Amino acid sequence: MKRIALAAFLFVTLVLSAAEPAPTLRRNTVDEVIAAMTPEEKVLMVIGNKNNDRRRYIGEGSTWYCARLGLMPTVMCDGPAGVRMKPFRDGDSTKAYYSTAFPTATALAATWNTELVETVGDAMGNETLEYGADVLLAPAMNIQRDPLCGRNFEYYSEDPLLSGKMGAAMVRGIQSQGVGTSVKHFAANNQESNRKGVNAVISQRALREIYLRGFEIAIREAAPWTVMSSYNRLNGVYASQNRDLLTTVLRDEWGFDGMVMTDWFAGDDGVAQMKAGNDIIMGGFPHGHYKYHQPEILSALSDKTLDEEVLDRNIRRILGFVKKTPSYREYACSLKPDLARHAQVAQRAADEAMVLLKNDRNTLPVRKPNRVALFGKTSYDFIAGGTGSGEVHYGHAVSLKEGLSNVGFRISSAADRFYTRFVDSVFAAGGHKKYAVTRSQEPRIDKALVEAEAKVTDMGVVTLGRLSGEGVDRKEEGYFTLTDNEKELLGAVCSAYHALGKKVVVVLNIGGVIETASWKELPDAILLSWQTGQQGGAAVAELLRGTVNPSGKLPVSYPVSYADVPSSKSFPGIPADLPVNSYYNEGVYIGYRYYTTYDVPVSYPFGYGLSYTRFEYSDLTLSSDSFPGRIDVSVKISNTGKVAGKEVVQLYLTAPAVLQDKPERELKGFAKTRLLAPGESQVLTFTLDPRSLCSFRSGISSWVAEAGRYEVKIGASSQDIRQRASFTLGKELVVEKLHDVLAPNVPIKDMGTTSAKVLGTDQPFDHYHELDYKFNWHW
Ligand code: BGC
Repeated sequence: MKRIALAAFLFVTLVLSAAEPAPTLRRNTVDEVIAAMTPEEKVLMVIGNKNNDRRRYIGEGSTWYCARLGLMPTVMCDGPAGVRMKPFRDGDSTKAYYSTAFPTATALAATWNTELVETVGDAMGNETLEYGADVLLAPAMNIQRDPLCGRNFEYYSEDPLLSGKMGAAMVRGIQSQGVGTSVKHFAANNQESNRKGVNAVISQRALREIYLRGFEIAIREAAPWTVMSSYNRLNGVYASQNRDLLTTVLRDEWGFDGMVMTDWFAGDDGVAQMKAGNDIIMGGFPHGHYKYHQPEILSALSDKTLDEEVLDRNIRRILGFVKKTPSYREYACSLKPDLARHAQVAQRAADEAMVLLKNDRNTLPVRKPNRVALFGKTSYDFIAGGTGSGEVHYGHAVSLKEGLSNVGFRISSAADRFYTRFVDSVFAAGGHKKYAVTRSQEPRIDKALVEAEAKVTDMGVVTLGRLSGEGVDRKEEGYFTLTDNEKELLGAVCSAYHALGKKVVVVLNIGGVIETASWKELPDAILLSWQTGQQGGAAVAELLRGTVNPSGKLPVSYPVSYADVPSSKSFPGIPADLPVNSYYNEGVYIGYRYYTTYDVPVSYPFGYGLSYTRFEYSDLTLSSDSFPGRIDVSVKISNTGKVAGKEVVQLYLTAPAVLQDKPERELKGFAKTRLLAPGESQVLTFTLDPRSLCSFRSGISSWVAEAGRYEVKIGASSQDIRQRASFTLGKELVVEKLHDVLAPNVPIKDMGTTSAKVLGTDQPFDHYHELDYKFNWHW
């Protein structure tokens, strides 16, 4: 019966629409086009499509196209480290179309240079445009909650301010080319384990202060054309079906007026997605899931469980998006972006991304390129980026061996031969060329060979590599920690070289955080090169010989052990093999917020990084010693060393914690100096607005600044505070009252809502949080 009614409904609307001359998007208004659509066409409009010519080469999906209504197909392509597309095209086997592999997001965040990130975005946007796409599915802005998340390399930081500012810069850069971005994955997609089903259980406070905050900054400051909702559930409801998230917070509170798309094949209820304000369901046709979304939405329309107005509203946003695109403008893409120029941009970003973790007795730079032996398979197969949708099919990536040779280092042949033979044997065994070597075990190298190399070379370089990607989280053993073969290699190289009074440098070609505390005493220098795109090997070479002075700092803490990470006790949720619920018990105490508040030692703190020069911090000035609504902070940074360099300066704030417990310090501003010559100074300025003073008080759903004394700490890292000053706030300020939404659907013990000082202890709720608990926690 239901089917007959549906068929009749469709027939009538089709006949009616066929009788009218169809308005088109070019000649008519969006509302006129919507009014001319049949219900069936409306449903096609809200389900993504893959079916257009360019899609064979580029793009993970597109919007529906329809000649009758003058609708263009628009093309959306991945991803955060550059345009992901197939290099080879049908009927054109002689030519390859490559895109530039830029440093991964974590590496970009390590530059702490928003201008530079905007320039990278501009180059990525240009490749998006010139290769024929309309939207780059980037930036990915989830918080790096736990070092084992497989996609951390696609994300910026453990800190929401740094993530937000980086994301905003990237959006501005990409969109300056007249193409769109998709800020993703909104929200709390902080793990890959059961990513399409897991329920992230997060207190309202941790959500607002940590997991939503970066998105809020990027959306308010840079107005991305689109947002991609995430796969996971958030406090009981799929993100893509979560009205509180996608409408109340995103649109009503933050003023987002663009289009929201699902992540590919996310959620389980297309009608709920429509109602939530998730305008379009991706990936859609021709994949299987359109087969149930299409009838599902159509019958909801016909039986009026879905108001047609809701669909019209979503389509209005989709068509608003379509009208902005290069496809709509009929832009004739050249297929010829300036790859040589973009490679230079990629290299500049790689130069600034690298973090010098250790440099005993000025091991680096090696001013005159000398003879080096390269150990570790990754030296010969340097990793440009991670796998999955964040992967980029670049033309050529500079390996470490190539990079060092290009600037005059002489690479010793014995180790080279050993590793070249190893690499050849891996390929001969039939491995897929790109990742076969990276995924293979580190080969065991003969001690005698290492000792012989130590005799004939001036320095040993050991590269340790890690690869990860979408779909799986990483393991602690052998991924976070070194493998036995890696430990053996490092031990052998260090003892052979040190026995002869020669130095060893470790290069970390990794996407995120690994264990360093147990072995960092061994080498003389450690350079964290991250996965810095196709120019990574070239950038390492410039840093080793000192033509570039390292200026990157850590966007994420390096803990002593995995057990020290506050989320390690609950990641990836329960049950661990296919988590249903992932409990964010640490609340707002993630990363340095936890380590500094609870005095937990780390191996390298958030914000840390060495330079070949020294910087002095002086003359900290606050525009007022009480808070009149805004405080300007300035500090003078002087290069007191012998070479030119740039310094990343961080402003942390310690807020009074009377009614609410608070992290000991929180990042509220950062800046990077220009290249300062020896003896040169620069005054950096920061602004503290009312929101900078606030914590989120969930009992009253408001951003509140407590009355009392605020301490400004200017640091070279989160643990190296160089200047301090304070101001007072006379009276509590309720800066913004928000909706009481997104409360956890199951009980959670949250460090931010208990007085427990140590994770896992069972202490009672304190007074304030009892209130919080009564008002807010629905279970
Ligand atoms: C990823 C997204 C990506 C999309 C399209 C999904 O699996 O989570 O980040 O943009 O695929 O490739």
